[in-house]
Amino acid sequence: MKAILDTKTGITCLQANDKNYYVGFLSDAGVRIYEENPLPSFAIDKVTYAIDGVSASDNGGKAEVSYGNLTLIFSMDMGFSIVKGGETVYVFEPFKPEAKEEDLSLKEKEGHKVERHDSFINGFSIDANLPVYGLGDKTGTLDKRGYAYINWCSDIPDPHEDSFPSLYKAINFFTLFNKEKTLGVYLDNSSKTAFDFNKTDRNKVLVSYSAGSFDLYLFLGNLPDVIAEYTLLTGRTPLPPRWALGNQQSRWSYPDKKTVEEVIEGYRKADIPLSAIYLDIDYMVGYKDFSIDEQKFPNIDAWLASLKEKDIHIVPIIDAGVKAEEGYDVYDEGIRDDHFSKLDGQVYHNEVWPGDSVFPSFLDEHTQNWWADHVAKFLTHGFGGIWNDMNEPASFKGPLPLDVEMGGYPHYLAHNVYGHSMAKATYKGFLRVKRRPFIVTRAAYAGSARYSTTWTGDNQSLWSHLRMTIPQFCNLSLSGMGFLGCDIGGFNFDCTDELMRKWIVASLFSPLMRNHSACGCKRQEAYQFDEETQKIYRATVMLRYELIPALYDCLYLHNVLGRATVRPLVYNFPEDPNVLNENTELMLGDSLLLAPMLSAGEEVRSVYFPDDFYSYASGRLYKKGYQLVSLADEPNCFFVRSHSLLAMNPRGTKTTEWSDTLRLLWTGETAATYHYEDDGDGLAFTEGRYNLYLIKADMNEGLSFSTIHKGMKSHYKTLQLDLINGKSITQEFPKEN
Ligand code: NOJ
Repeated sequence: MKAILDTKTGITCLQANDKNYYVGFLSDAGVRIYEENPLPSFAIDKVTYAIDGVSASDNGGKAEVSYGNLTLIFSMDMGFSIVKGGETVYVFEPFKPEAKEEDLSLKEKEGHKVERHDSFINGFSIDANLPVYGLGDKTGTLDKRGYAYINWCSDIPDPHEDSFPSLYKAINFFTLFNKEKTLGVYLDNSSKTAFDFNKTDRNKVLVSYSAGSFDLYLFLGNLPDVIAEYTLLTGRTPLPPRWALGNQQSRWSYPDKKTVEEVIEGYRKADIPLSAIYLDIDYMVGYKDFSIDEQKFPNIDAWLASLKEKDIHIVPIIDAGVKAEEGYDVYDEGIRDDHFSKLDGQVYHNEVWPGDSVFPSFLDEHTQNWWADHVAKFLTHGFGGIWNDMNEPASFKGPLPLDVEMGGYPHYLAHNVYGHSMAKATYKGFLRVKRRPFIVTRAAYAGSARYSTTWTGDNQSLWSHLRMTIPQFCNLSLSGMGFLGCDIGGFNFDCTDELMRKWIVASLFSPLMRNHSACGCKRQEAYQFDEETQKIYRATVMLRYELIPALYDCLYLHNVLGRATVRPLVYNFPEDPNVLNENTELMLGDSLLLAPMLSAGEEVRSVYFPDDFYSYASGRLYKKGYQLVSLADEPNCFFVRSHSLLAMNPRGTKTTEWSDTLRLLWTGETAATYHYEDDGDGLAFTEGRYNLYLIKADMNEGLSFSTIHKGMKSHYKTLQLDLINGKSITQEFPKEN
């Protein structure tokens, strides 16, 4: 085996058997290993390699490549070990999945060579039995050990169960948790991929792919750093408009303007703030993308403008399938300019909501730009955002054949990045009209966060689905999706009062707080439920509005530093063995803990406090350890860690607009927080129009403010310092700020 280092690029070529592989270090904690001429990446724009300090050597059957205290030792078969500071920390071996007899086509049985793209051809194994986090939206527990999954974006209407191998997203990133030696594994390959986490072999993680290239990124360090490095490479959630953090309502469908206004009125009467309403497919004419049924939604521009005055934003759905109908501009243009996917040279048709449908070749830049033009034009009606759906792509007349050509790529390579590319095209549309993007996508690939928020798709009004949201949120967040949510109350089936009560409480930290339900199910707006449920819904939404500054700070820190927004406890408490597979509690940022009741009839539960925490409701101190907590004492199930300082809105805030009071909640001793402020919408912040503060509180020295960046006049006039024990001090907002 030969190892030839190119000192100009820092990349080492490994000549192994008859094939060349390449190794490049991203840092002393990140490395890329890839085969010659890998396919272009859909997730990564640019990779920057370390150059100085990289060394490579070979010695017959082995090659060694090093940077900093990280060394990779390769053998001829491209197995390798990762050595850090002299210790072998991980061992990789090539893994050839065996095609099952029943998978073999007749042709193959007869000895013909067939190019197969639907079964797994190649892969690698890792010798490890460690907690596994990540892999996107998969069902099952937080720690994925014992499960096997397939990444192939799938729209499955059945109730999502732990046994499901696939869901809507295909994010080939997972972490093997081992404190400071945690390994992040990202396989940049858009074909169908498979992951077996210690299921077949208790001591091995098996990863395989069905087509495309071997292109692997590895990150070594503690869990937060590993995720930050991965998101630095693939992209992080840009700051959403601040109104998108408010309470949102959706339904398949609110069929007309009158119904939408009834919903707004329903929320007003129930005294529950509302920031957005979604228009599902029935606002269109014949389910044609970018059309608006003017009978049902007359004078839409003026109407949207009047709603915006009331701080209500409308988000319409746009589906991937385009109605195949001559005379419909999107179809005609797409045919004329060759924007649709093809099979054997002919535009490929399947069926989605509009009936006979065709599929834009979103992977093609030319098609993305055409779509972006439509998005830009559509946005000028005054819509707040765009909701992209059915973009796995879903189809009603069987799956799209694997060789449909979708903008330069066959379906078997395009499928997992189809929704991602649609979100990218939509994102470009927002930038054309200089709007801060707010896009919600159902299908996603690694790096989709840079274009879009997401939700967990068609869940159901089931207790098991309420419980599932916690590990799903945590794993999605650890897969780089900083802005995410689920259909609060459940999409399909009918939600009971108690289920809604508990679901909304469990959604306090959900960055995207959206209640959505399907046609044919009971109406699910907060005010449709009994008094008790409405009371709790109201209290939770009011609490959420208090938390908007803290949530916005989390999103800012996610964007600039790669810090996870919602987190499993293990992210903040890696040394604590009690939280490795904690599926019933979650955190927002470093110090907020939610421990909701997740079962019918449950009024008291055991909560594990990984540190001393205070009840937000009563100021009561819960010492580190297991404690019994009752709903009677803790209706919000919400706790604040000791030694923390948080930027909040004053109690009673009912809007997502900036308050002129910055409220700081302090749980004592020495504490600090960053606080970020901008216009809350628009793109001026990207040109420096924002303020960033570092605020410290100390028992002896009091409060200190340092302005790290000053780019605008502050919204704040007053500073209100609330102590967790109920004491409050109000003063003028520091002048120099
Ligand atoms: C499927 C989506 O997941 C759901 O949220 C939506 O309501 C329906 N499509 C109808 O558009």
